[in-house]
Amino acid sequence: MAMKNFEKYKKVYDWKKPNRRTWTDKEITKAPIWCSVDLRDGNQALANPMNMKEKIEFFKYLVRIGFKEIEIGFPAASETEYKFTRYLIENNMIPDDVKIQVLTQARKEIIEKTFESLKGAKNVIVHVYNSTSTAQRKYVFKKNKEEVKKIATDGAKLLVENMKKYPQTNWYFEYSPESFTATEMDYAIDVVNDILKIWYPALKNKPIINFPATVECSTPNVFADQIEYISENILDRDKMIISVHSHNDRGTGVATSEMAMLAGADRVEGSILGNGERTGNADILNIAMNMYVTGVDPKLDFSNINELKEKYEEYIKMPISPRHPYVGELVFTAFSGSHQDAISKSLQAIKEEKTEKWDVPYLPIDPADINRQYEPIIRINSQSGKGGVSFLLKNEYGYNIPKQMMQEVGYYIKDVSDKEERELNSKEIFEAFSSEYINRKDKVKLIDYNVKSEKDDDVELEVTLEVNDKKIKKQEVGNGAVDAFTAILKQLEYDFEFKYYSQDAQEEASNKGEKANAITYVMVEDNKKHKSVWAVGKSRSTIKSSLNAVLSAVNRI
Ligand code: KIV
Ligand code: ZN
Repeated sequence: MAMKNFEKYKKVYDWKKPNRRTWTDKEITKAPIWCSVDLRDGNQALANPMNMKEKIEFFKYLVRIGFKEIEIGFPAASETEYKFTRYLIENNMIPDDVKIQVLTQARKEIIEKTFESLKGAKNVIVHVYNSTSTAQRKYVFKKNKEEVKKIATDGAKLLVENMKKYPQTNWYFEYSPESFTATEMDYAIDVVNDILKIWYPALKNKPIINFPATVECSTPNVFADQIEYISENILDRDKMIISVHSHNDRGTGVATSEMAMLAGADRVEGSILGNGERTGNADILNIAMNMYVTGVDPKLDFSNINELKEKYEEYIKMPISPRHPYVGELVFTAFSGSHQDAISKSLQAIKEEKTEKWDVPYLPIDPADINRQYEPIIRINSQSGKGGVSFLLKNEYGYNIPKQMMQEVGYYIKDVSDKEERELNSKEIFEAFSSEYINRKDKVKLIDYNVKSEKDDDVELEVTLEVNDKKIKKQEVGNGAVDAFTAILKQLEYDFEFKYYSQDAQEEASNKGEKANAITYVMVEDNKKHKSVWAVGKSRSTIKSSLNAVLSAVNRI
């Protein structure tokens, strides 16, 4: 039965911004105030929530990354969260420039217990919430608008009362109309304005009003319109902070937060890699890195993304999709041949032209900036182009294949991949290239050589070869060692002409532990079969490298 039940659904929220939106013309130019909710929203959504030790370690990690506001839990809701809050405070684990944030319902006993748990802390955000949506009012609380608003304003007053009992702490207050995205806009504004009327005169710090997309129920542009409208209608906008907290039900948690920033949000709540209730929270790493790759400092440090991955796997214990932006195993891998070609050409051009700005197709970020390796960028399968193979041989093994040779090597590697019916990794590609082209000695083998004399350009070369298990000694004079060697091989009835010769030093930085070698590339034309044959010689001696290349070609004929 096909999906026919769409008629059962309505737009959860049918609202249009009455005046013109302006956020569509804006850009994100600075980092918002970030607030990590990993230890609260994220942790509460885990099948096995973090234990005390894990929470402590994760808190330290969040501080290290650069979060200045961290929601650590719901201390009045569980003994573990209470103990964790006390542990951080009593062990002086909260740096002076970091505010811990705790969540509380707008209920007297819960608020009192929350304040108790915070005794002795320096900077704290108390985050109070109640649900305001039509469905929650109707089905859950069975209260009208005024009654639900009263829950919120009573909670706001209780925060002020309790704050007075603990004057040593620098208090910040935050209010969330939970299920905001399914709340009527003017009602939401009415509720938050009444809260601000209580808080403005009582607080020395700007109050935070957090607008959660508790459940995403529209496209992100609608949320942005809502935030812009609120910004235009909230009481004394410049005396308060607008925060957003998006979940990811429609897979647009990141876009929702980004568009909300355009629309005026000063603060973004979310979690690393988006762990949180159901489909998760907005992924802060993703939002921050999106800023980074457009030239804006996100003020969070994800330079060691592999460590982040390890921490996530250790504490959150959830798999990371190989396609997850910036972190996923495959996000710096190009499978398509044309992508590989474009990447390799652009990286080369950037290097040669010493271009300062990153400008590489298919790689929105330089993987090295987040401690990812170039190594996995290229994998070769039967669809890959020649560019990918030569890029890999050059960057990982130091072989600078001549342009004219690239196509043949590309086809050869594709052939191997086709026969194996699978993708080849870089080591396998190198091994296939090496056994086919480098220092081949299957038919004729060089046992020894001796440059007997050099006069002007004439070189007298003596070689010992092994042909069909028989050793033969030969000597010739030629215009250089290669010429003399060619003459020797011609005596053995190998009939070919030289068409290409070049030699360079293997690039040491990338040559996987090999000592720097002279690498010789040759192409000969076989006069009998009228076929061109490419080959490669490798040796620490430049002469031997050349002789190896010639012999390798002869062996490939
Ligand atoms: O998603 C949500 O609405 C929340 C609130 C408590 C802010 O997590
Ligand atoms: Zn949430």
